[in-house]
This record gives sequence, structure tokens and C-alpha cells, in this order.
Amino acid sequence: NANLNQLAQAAGKLYFGSATDNSELSDSAYVAILSNYEEFGQITPGNTQKWEYTEPTEGNFTYTEGDVITDFAEANGQILRCHNLVWYNQLPSWVTSDTWTNATLTAVMEAHIQSEVTHYKGQCYAWDVVNEALDDNSPTGYRTDVFYETMGVWYIPFAFATAAAADPDAKLYYNDYNIEYAGNKATAAVELVELIQSYGAKIDGVGLQGHFIVGETPSASTLLAQIETYAALGVEVAYTEVDVRFTSLPPTTAGLAQQAVDYGSVTSACLSSDSCVGITVWDFDDAYSWIPSTFSGEGDACLYWANLTTKPAYDTVESLLASA
Ligand code: G3I
Repeated sequence: NANLNQLAQAAGKLYFGSATDNSELSDSAYVAILSNYEEFGQITPGNTQKWEYTEPTEGNFTYTEGDVITDFAEANGQILRCHNLVWYNQLPSWVTSDTWTNATLTAVMEAHIQSEVTHYKGQCYAWDVVNEALDDNSPTGYRTDVFYETMGVWYIPFAFATAAAADPDAKLYYNDYNIEYAGNKATAAVELVELIQSYGAKIDGVGLQGHFIVGETPSASTLLAQIETYAALGVEVAYTEVDVRFTSLPPTTAGLAQQAVDYGSVTSACLSSDSCVGITVWDFDDAYSWIPSTFSGEGDACLYWANLTTKPAYDTVESLLASA
């Protein structure tokens, strides 16, 4: 196989990368691929920089597990996307269960962001500062989590300003799903970027997660139009968590061809815009995909099969990168 990161960089992108997780690093066949800079020039920790891991009890910051991934990336010369600082999910129970005031939760959020961003200062190309703050079904557009309910929308610009103060060189991203194509949620994401800017806080990027379904993935032109909508706000974009899942298994030959088309649409969209800096897959082989445990009976969403052979989608991504 040729090498996805090498080809992406030759095409003018910063990286082609993958998420990974601590438990996966004991799989030597997997690690042989993940650690190959020519294949994956960028790493995102899939779990262990999240709040439940990094501040399991108030004021007790532990970066041991996150450091395993960041050290791995550093050892291989790989760019890090750091993930994430403020998210409604994977919060320790002390954050979700306590009764906060605006003032006390603000202090907690500030301490968390300051500690974590300072710990990783200089190592993160980008931080996903706020993750999934929008809700597809909420009338306000915002997810009614503990942060929104206690602090109002102001928590979002506050999180960005706090992260910027702790590491002025990290790119600060808003990261979400279903904002990759035009619609109510993408419009809410545009307004969220404008909200942050209206507070005078810095936002550098919008992370397009890219969790897609075979046969339902938007076309390259639809994806590109939305990239340019964000770019018009003065921010860059990246595809941050790409996978394209089958909703019924096993896949047919025709299904695998469609999956290749769908991965190709994402790749082409990113290649077509100077504002798209790179593509990250939310792990590269089916053995470590989050899909089967969340969507029962679905999966086979990755570029590699669980046995570490590649799919037709891999060949399509590779040839699009090579011909860019
Ligand atoms: O670490 C514990 C382990 O000790 C325990 O025995 C086991 C039993 O269930 O759970 C383990 O924790 C799991 C953790 O992944 C690490 O494997 C959690 O249950 C599981 O819920 C968690 O899932 C993660 C998911 O976020 C949580 O929402 C996935 O690995 C991770 O890939 C996924 O990533 C998210 C992004 O952060 C944001 N965008 C969506 C994406 C997919 O859901």
C-alpha cells in the first residue's frame, strides 16, 4: 500500500490521521500501521483526554493515560489533535450531579481548561475546545447540558477564551456531527462561530466529525459548499472523526463500492478547499470502531477490515490523494 499521510501532504494538506485509544496500543500489528508516519501523520486520543479521565474528582488532574497517546504521537513525529475540553458526555459524575451556580461552574470549567491546556501546551496542533454543543432537536439549537443550563451560551466563548489564554499557539476548534452539510444544525454552527467571535474570543477552526452512513453520505459538492461557508467566517476546517458505516451487515460487493464512493466524497471535498487542513478517521480498522457497541448490528465503517487488510474505500482515498 502507498501511504495516506504522505500522499495527503504532497497534495498540500497538513495530515491524514487516525484516532486511537490506550488499550489498542498493545496490538502490535495495529501499532505497526498506526505508528507509520507515512500512513498516519496525525493522532487523536479517542478517550483519555476527556474530562472523566483527566479530572475524575474535583481538582485532581491526572494525565497519565492521555500522555500515553501524546507520547506515542511525539515518538512518531505525528501531529496531535487534542480531544476534548468541554463536552456533555464522558463527564465525571461530580460535574453532572452537583448543583452549581454560574459562578461555581465557571470556576470549575476555568480550572479544568487551564490545567489541561497548560499540561499539553506546545504539543497540540489543535484542541477541540467545545464538542457537540448543538442538539439536532433542540428549539434553541443548543444542547441543554449542565453547562448550558447553568451558564447559558456564554460558556462557549468563555471556554475558548480560557483555552486561548493557556496555549496561544494551539488552534481552537468547535467540533460536531451533522454540521458537514447545509441544514438547521449547520446554520446553528455558523451562528455559534459568530457568537464566539462576537465575544472577542478566538476560534480557529470547525471540526466536521464526518460520521456518515453508506449511501447517505453527502456528495463532494455538498460537503465543499459547507466547508466554504465556514471558511467565509475566517476559520479553517478539518474532517475530524470520519467513518462510513453499514446499517446492515455483512456488506455486499456493491455496498463496498458505495462506501468507497462515500469516503471519496469526503476526500475530494477536503482536497478541493485550501481551508480544509486534513482528514482524521475515527480509527482505521473495524476491530477498534465505536460503531458496533453504539449501533447494534451496524459497522464495517473503517478503511481497514479487522484483519488489517484494506477495503475498496482505502483504494479510492489513496488514488484521490495521489491524483490531487
Ligand atoms: O474504560 C472503560 C472500561 O474500564 C470499562 O470496563 C468498559 C466497560 O464498558 O468501558 C470503558 O469505557 C468505554 C470507553 O469508550 C473506553 O473504551 C466506555 O464505556 C465507552 O462509552 C467509550 O466510548 C467512547 C465514546 O466516544 C463515548 O461517547 C468511544 O470509545 C469513542 O470512540 C467515542 O468518541 C466520540 C468522540 O469523542 C466525539 N464524537 C463522537 C465519537 C463517537 O461516539
